[in-house]
Amino acid sequence: MQHQLLEKNIGLMGILIVVVISFAGLAQIVPLFFQAQVVEPAPGIKPYSPLALAGRDVYVREGCYGCHSQMIRPFVSETERYGAYSVAGEFVYDHPFQWGSKRTGPDLARVGGRYTDEWHRLHLIKPQNLVPESNMPGYPWLLEKSLDTELLKKKIQVMRLLGVPYPEAIEVEIDSLANKSEMDALITYLQGLGVSYKPNRTESNVRDDGVR
Ligand code: HEC
Repeated sequence: MQHQLLEKNIGLMGILIVVVISFAGLAQIVPLFFQAQVVEPAPGIKPYSPLALAGRDVYVREGCYGCHSQMIRPFVSETERYGAYSVAGEFVYDHPFQWGSKRTGPDLARVGGRYTDEWHRLHLIKPQNLVPESNMPGYPWLLEKSLDTELLKKKIQVMRLLGVPYPEAIEVEIDSLANKSEMDALITYLQGLGVSYKPNRTESNVRDDGVR
């Protein structure tokens, strides 16, 4: 009888299908909230400095994620090129994280320290200065735009709300950034990518058969 009711009422059946599927989803998702590997920072991971945080937002605003991922997969072709594969604990202070999957350009998860600040400056002004065949656009206006330090203070407060442990004294540090440009912020962000994570030996080098 109830079965007939369901079969004849497609609206009701649709709703019940969604309910059943959401239970299945929750059974997979909820346990993740309690796994240390996922919710605790990986070795070496610290919150972004205020300048790097401002740079992260320039990265998001300019849509760099449209061409660059920040997630190294656990395959030898990736770890040989980029370095240790990404782990969940690296992103606990990233709100929102920038994983992505579109790679018109290379993955940037470990680009920090690979080039000098000056290289990044020239590259961001006009990538073809350094890589003639590049199809990356230039971002010269970032040199002229100065940082909005009041906005940055508010961002830090929001990050605190999301659980990022910024100390109270950080506001003083932000005041000293008034003469920085958005270019400085973006370069600081890029130079910090992947440098503080200290993977253990098995995580830094994998082969497809798991041996190395
Ligand atoms: C239209 C796609 C595109 C966009 C948008 C883009 N890039 Fe790129 N990017 C590339 C390509 C292609 C390369 C490789 C050639 C080169 O080095 O210019 C690259 C290279 C890079 C490199 C050097 C990486 C390495 O390991 O050599 C950095 C750093 C970089 N991009 C940062 C950025 C930032 C920051 C933004 C946003 C402000 C951005 N890119 C936006 C396509 C893009």
